Amino acid sequence: MKSYNIAVIPGDGTGPEVIREGIKVLEALSQKSGFKLTFSYYDFGGERYLRTGETLPNSAVEELKQYDALYLGAIGHPDVKPGILERGILLNLRFKLDLYINLRPVKLYPGVDCPLKNKSPDDIDFVVVRENTEGLYTGAGGFLKKGTLYEVAIQESINTRRGVERCIRFAFDYCKKRNKVKKLTLCGKTNVLIFAFDLWERTFYEVAKEYPDIKVDYAHVDAITMWFVKNPEWFDVIVTDNMFGDIITDLGAMIQGGMGIAAGGNINPHGVSMFEPIGGSAPKYTGKNCINPLAAICAGGMMLEHLGEERSSQLLEKAVMEVTGKYLKSLAAGQMGYSTTEVGDLVTRFVTELSVD
Ligand code: IPM
Ligand code: MN
Repeated sequence: MKSYNIAVIPGDGTGPEVIREGIKVLEALSQKSGFKLTFSYYDFGGERYLRTGETLPNSAVEELKQYDALYLGAIGHPDVKPGILERGILLNLRFKLDLYINLRPVKLYPGVDCPLKNKSPDDIDFVVVRENTEGLYTGAGGFLKKGTLYEVAIQESINTRRGVERCIRFAFDYCKKRNKVKKLTLCGKTNVLIFAFDLWERTFYEVAKEYPDIKVDYAHVDAITMWFVKNPEWFDVIVTDNMFGDIITDLGAMIQGGMGIAAGGNINPHGVSMFEPIGGSAPKYTGKNCINPLAAICAGGMMLEHLGEERSSQLLEKAVMEVTGKYLKSLAAGQMGYSTTEVGDLVTRFVTELSVD
């Protein structure tokens, strides 16, 4: 029997509540499909930081590398200054585990209320491949004359040929494997960021030569935010840098129905990868059992696909669609018509009852 060791970091706020439901669904799938999942819990997050001053101990990073995958709830605590936990835990994991891809599917499920007029599930189904270890996120830069009237703040965007190329290659391979429209769009800003996106653009078209069956396209980031709203059906797979990817995937989350459903994978194709709902810790809903667990459940589905349990991942998605299509009144916390636990139970029921074909 196949067996996977998963490190679980429930984290802060509503993280533990949604992860609990995700694990419920994953357990049901493992029983049904005959693979074994072993979960080990880690308490990284705001509470631990407030207690010990520690975000992510170095020894933990080495330990986490031993797992088959990581499953993360949410990071962010109202009593901790913004940035400490995000940088200390989330970004730290992305850098130290070299999770160089942030994979963000944007898919409108049946029954989900879309803020775009006249758009249906047929129109919204694309994936953003965001570079996850470089760009503006490396922390390169600094202050000069800090605190004076002449203060200078420099935040540098780091783009290496190797970093850009491995991300672009992943996007081409992913687009090929996805086998939908086979169209890959580079999202950049070549008209202004004449160094960074010159490198991205050259690399993109060089690598494209190795994928003659994939149509390539380019869009400036500002234009892409416009097309996401006006013509989301134009997109299949999009590849972009860290900062632009961060921004456009929040917009993507909104057009797929909101943070209640948006999941992401932080991927190292040659090492351990981490899967998470992208919505954050939602402190005001903590402990109320009213937050939507579907994003965490879908992150679990991405994890299964990554582990090679594709059929289980498809079944999970089918069950989620059943629940959005026939049960939930809304994806918003407190307005679903069901509690967090009940939504988890519904998905669990359908993964048990339904089959993929
Ligand atoms: C995300 C988040 C993070 C990011 C924050 C929490 C540091 O917004 O995963 O998109 O900016 O990457
Ligand atoms: Mn973000």
